[in-house]
Amino acid sequence: MIPPVKRVAVLISGRGSNLQNLIDAQDASYRIVLVISNVEGVGGLDKAQAAGIATTVISHAGKTREAFDGEMNAALHAVRADIIVLAGFMRILSDGFVRGWEGRLINIHPSLLPAYKGTKVHERVLAAKESVSGASVHFVVPELDAGPVIAQTSVPVHPGDTPQTLADRVLAVEHKLYPDALKLLASDKVKLLNGQAVFS
Ligand code: GRF
Repeated sequence: MIPPVKRVAVLISGRGSNLQNLIDAQDASYRIVLVISNVEGVGGLDKAQAAGIATTVISHAGKTREAFDGEMNAALHAVRADIIVLAGFMRILSDGFVRGWEGRLINIHPSLLPAYKGTKVHERVLAAKESVSGASVHFVVPELDAGPVIAQTSVPVHPGDTPQTLADRVLAVEHKLYPDALKLLASDKVKLLNGQAVFS
């Protein structure tokens, strides 16, 4: 039996190049029904609107993390979201929010996790003279960038790379990796079970 199309909400804070690729890659497994940004006026909102996707801005300013996450939950439940995709969303989510969406909440991170969690990834990869870096899509768990990996792609680090040239090379592979990983989840081919990504 073909699983029903999953209703996806994408959370962004910026330009939304991953969002654009997720929009372009929509197939029978998922449809993007809402884009939420915590920042007004960002490029990702324009990309969603150009594709005819509903958008909402929920600012975190002056709110506790729990109040902010509560507002997001209300918006997500209102559209009956099945899956939440973080795509350049620059806020840490409360443990309660993450637990509420366990197994249905994914993120993309520009390193080969578990290496280089957190920020300033490319700077640290270059400082450590790594010869390989990459991108990872993972289930989100309360601990930052620590959830089980669903899919990864590696890229070479070239001599003379700057954080920007490396970021560009990683971003190019993210654009294929993220839709591929989302389709695995949306078609029930990967699940979070007992803290592990289990594939079928
Ligand atoms: C990507 O590099 C992603 O790995 C990180 O934030 C960036 C988002 O870029 N989490 P964009 O807004 O999708 O262009």
